[in-house]
Amino acid sequence: MAHVHVTRGVREHLEAVELGLGPIYIGMEGICALPLVLPPMLDLGVVVPHVGGSPTPRSQVTSLRCRRYEGFMLGEGEFDKRVSEDGIEVWVTMMGPYLNMNTAFIDRMAGIVAIIDPFDASEWSSALSAEGLEPTHILYTHTHRDHAAGYPGMLSLYPDLEVWGHVDARVPDLLSHMVFSEVAFTNEWAQPAGESIEWSVGGIRLTVTHTPGHAPGHVTLHGHGVFHAGDLLFTNGMGRVDLPGSDPMDQWDSIRTGREILRSLPGSWRMIPGHRYDWIDGSTPDWVSIADALKHNYALNSPGLG
Ligand SMILES: [Fe+2]
Repeated sequence: MAHVHVTRGVREHLEAVELGLGPIYIGMEGICALPLVLPPMLDLGVVVPHVGGSPTPRSQVTSLRCRRYEGFMLGEGEFDKRVSEDGIEVWVTMMGPYLNMNTAFIDRMAGIVAIIDPFDASEWSSALSAEGLEPTHILYTHTHRDHAAGYPGMLSLYPDLEVWGHVDARVPDLLSHMVFSEVAFTNEWAQPAGESIEWSVGGIRLTVTHTPGHAPGHVTLHGHGVFHAGDLLFTNGMGRVDLPGSDPMDQWDSIRTGREILRSLPGSWRMIPGHRYDWIDGSTPDWVSIADALKHNYALNSPGLG
């Protein structure tokens, strides 16, 4: 009998996996106490790599694949690496106890590595240096402590980094010690809420959209096959608006802006959230397609959006 407890993070998954004969039970820890009995090939998009026959050694159980998205549920520090049609590499990883999603855009020929919200400096450093790369730019969606957790380490390893963020993300001192981290931007975006600007370096071309509400100065970034939502959107929901500096009305305006952008992009692009939280089926994919986000995300489908 195989028991697969769906928790938040593949490491926890693997800790909980006991493979053998019989049906698969999937329980959602903290969400649902009663396990669901599910067939080996799930309509929900989850494939358990081995069911029946001889037990598979844990070392060979590498992932619970989310077939719909052709992606892994990444383990902490594990990287999904792809090359977009224009030759720009896109690396995506999940790091830290808050399941922060990081995306990097890499122009290898130009030696440019731009990372969104790097959580763990040493993990990024070792992954990049293994391929002869170094980070050159950090792009901040916002400056909540979890998103800026890697800032001191990155700057100490790479003092010449360009650090980009929206000017409004420089928060007052009153708030800075509670939920924000002090980040010294070397360069700032300053467009009004709801507006986008193009950001480019080497062959990397990103659209940066000011989407405040969850946090002041929040931005989303899209290009090269991904929409990195930060905490504007998670796969099935949106960022909370009850924190210091949050503004619920701004957030709904930003959700509307985000929906417009998502509708204008190819549905097959990946929508990468700021955190890997639950999808509508109880699984926790690292990303969903833009088409699925538009169809199922509750914030994007709120009747109040009009
Ligand atoms: Fe946040």
